[in-house]
Amino acid sequence: MNDQVAVITGGASGIGYGLAEALAARGVRLILSDIREEGLTKAQASLAATGAEVTAVVADVSDEASVHALADRTIATYGRVDLVCNNAGLVSPAAPLWEQDSRTWELMIRVKVLGVVHGVKAFAPLLIAQGTGHILNTASSGGLAPLPGRTPYTTTMHAVVGLTETLDAELKQVAPPLGATVLCPGLVDTPLGQNSAALGSIQLPPGTPTSMRSVAGARGGILSPREVAEATLTAVEADRVHVAPGTGVAQRARARVEALLADIAAN
Ligand SMILES: NC(=O)c1ccc[n+]([C@@H]2O[C@H](COP(=O)([O-])OP(=O)(O)OC[C@H]3O[C@@H](n4cnc5c(N)ncnc54)[C@H](O)[C@@H]3O)[C@@H](O)[C@H]2O)c1
Repeated sequence: MNDQVAVITGGASGIGYGLAEALAARGVRLILSDIREEGLTKAQASLAATGAEVTAVVADVSDEASVHALADRTIATYGRVDLVCNNAGLVSPAAPLWEQDSRTWELMIRVKVLGVVHGVKAFAPLLIAQGTGHILNTASSGGLAPLPGRTPYTTTMHAVVGLTETLDAELKQVAPPLGATVLCPGLVDTPLGQNSAALGSIQLPPGTPTSMRSVAGARGGILSPREVAEATLTAVEADRVHVAPGTGVAQRARARVEALLADIAAN
């Protein structure tokens, strides 16, 4: 809605940038945040060129003080916040769990899990004081079903799904207009591989195909960030807890839930 305010972490690129475009098109004012200052400056300029009202703030979601400074800056700039998108993320190397090193685990937990925790701790008190507002956490379809070869990624994504389901219940106990949604998309056409390499979570030897389209390969069905953003905002507006756009995501989630229920019933 016009004059509402959204904060987006990991907003310089990909899904975060798609959310920024879709929110700006609805007249929402933006605090766009990212750890990569150069990418953030370019993203702010592109959005501002379309008439969006955008303030750029460099922040590292793995650093609690940095996220609290982001919240302070939001209130100092706009005096309110309506939607908090804890979206920043990285991908982990492809290897079985027993070959994943400790540094990868620590980095993924710091960015993907604690990054969301820091966002909730910094912003939830502001939403509660207003009595309205919503938190959107980006996880992945890898948080709804097994994804062999990426355990540090899937573990943290499952954590964000469980965290968000519980957070939504906790917020609604405080005030029913508050809520939380978790985004669990399938493959999205973003530079996640290149950005993750630039930030040191994976290595890309020369010649490695990097685009998500090359990962999707013959499977196809890859979504654009803007398509994901529109589906996500529809879910947020409807106060749904889960949104999972993408080819095959529903089938994989259903297979996991049915296997879980069958195992429980066999006990
Ligand atoms: N692209 C996909 O297929 C896909 C699918 C499912 C889920 N996701 C998730 O969506 C989220 C966004 O990824 P994307 O695909 O848009 O990739 P992206 O690389 O385009 O965007 C992620 C952004 O997060 C930023 N970031 C990384 N670490 C940060 C930190 N510590 N603090 C602040 N910002 C940081 C990066 O600089 C980058 O701009 C991620 O959490 C990712 O795991 C992506």
